[in-house]
Amino acid sequence: MDMKEKSTVLITCSSGLAPYLQAEIEELGFQIGPVHDTGVETRATLNETMLLNLKLRTAYNVLYLLKEFRCMDPNQLYKNVGLVEWEKIIDSDEYLTVISRVNTMSIKNSMFPSVKTKDAVVDRILEKTGSRPDSGPERDNIVLGLYWYQENCRLYLNTSGRKLSDRTYRKIPHKAPLRESLAAALILESGYDGTMPLVLPMCGSGTLAIEAALIATGRSPGLLRANFCFMHTKGFDKTAWQNLRRQTLNADKKNAKKKNIKPIIATDIDPEAIDAAKKNALTAGVEHLIEFDVCDFTETTIPEEPGIIMLNPEYGMRLGDTEELTQTYEKIGDFFKQSCPGYTGYIFTGNPDLAKKVGLRTSRKIPFFNGDIDCRLLKYELYEGSRKKT
Ligand SMILES: C[S@@+](CC[C@H](N)C(=O)[O-])C[C@H]1O[C@@H](n2cnc3c(N)ncnc32)[C@H](O)[C@@H]1O
Repeated sequence: MDMKEKSTVLITCSSGLAPYLQAEIEELGFQIGPVHDTGVETRATLNETMLLNLKLRTAYNVLYLLKEFRCMDPNQLYKNVGLVEWEKIIDSDEYLTVISRVNTMSIKNSMFPSVKTKDAVVDRILEKTGSRPDSGPERDNIVLGLYWYQENCRLYLNTSGRKLSDRTYRKIPHKAPLRESLAAALILESGYDGTMPLVLPMCGSGTLAIEAALIATGRSPGLLRANFCFMHTKGFDKTAWQNLRRQTLNADKKNAKKKNIKPIIATDIDPEAIDAAKKNALTAGVEHLIEFDVCDFTETTIPEEPGIIMLNPEYGMRLGDTEELTQTYEKIGDFFKQSCPGYTGYIFTGNPDLAKKVGLRTSRKIPFFNGDIDCRLLKYELYEGSRKKT
């Protein structure tokens, strides 16, 4: 297989984020293929997957299709995987891991296809070169993704390795942090672009603030990472990667300079949360764009110029106590009404009963999943004297 050729590329994401991912992929100039609940397909060369890995905010992994075949049982799997010229893709001193998603009658133990695939790869490399790569569970080197549904098998090179949502800036996660890709999608949904104030009370470890700062400055999240799986392939075009990184860095810097970013205000009642958020923002290189403060959310300074305010309060499933939270949600409604006229307000929550306690009319309820919790991003247009919901 010539990885300079375009192949199908499946870009995975968490459930509910596909529309945001699709928009990001389109903006980068790629054609959109089938869109699934947890992924979007396009076509790209291996070198083009570098750009996708560098730029995408809402993706998990960028998977480059190596082979697709019909497969009825593990022996056919072994035989078909062994037909790929692995010796041209993977060095015998590399380290390999295989991750499988399997839904087929003949397989009961989902580990088995991973082992069978790994065996076929290393056996072929051993036969062709006299030595074989090591294998194990780490996702820092070569990662292969096997998707086996009924009689159809797709074998991908996972060009990302670890999930792109693991940006590496969150050294201190604090309590119940949002995944970075979800936080980015919430900020993208709000339409925030840095030209209006953004207020983030209850900021926790700062994920929303940091993702917002990256979006406002147009910074490519992949620049924060040093390692991707594509770097470990034999076909890795180091010069192309270095050029792309340098060009992206320069373009991002120019972009950020052009913009007059309005303040991002991030507060939390817990000093440890603010401490973590500051350290995380420093690691991400955006601390200068965020004004941090320790205070109750009701004490947060709201800039006069209208902007966006977004809260991610606890919702009683993993943290907090529902009775106390009832009062918190009521107070959020009062705070929105009294202190944030002219703002667009958002609450991200997984608890519809608590959401009702806000007592304001929502203009939209946008569905999201936080892990497997069904959540909503509730939107409120906050004008003077927002009406109570009847
Ligand atoms: C679910 S966590 C937010 C997580 C955050 N989105 C992140 O990614 O790290 C809720 C946060 O609200 C804060 N909090 C709870 N009650 C508060 C209050 N009355 N005023 C300000 N912050 C509060 C907690 O300390 C906690 O950090």
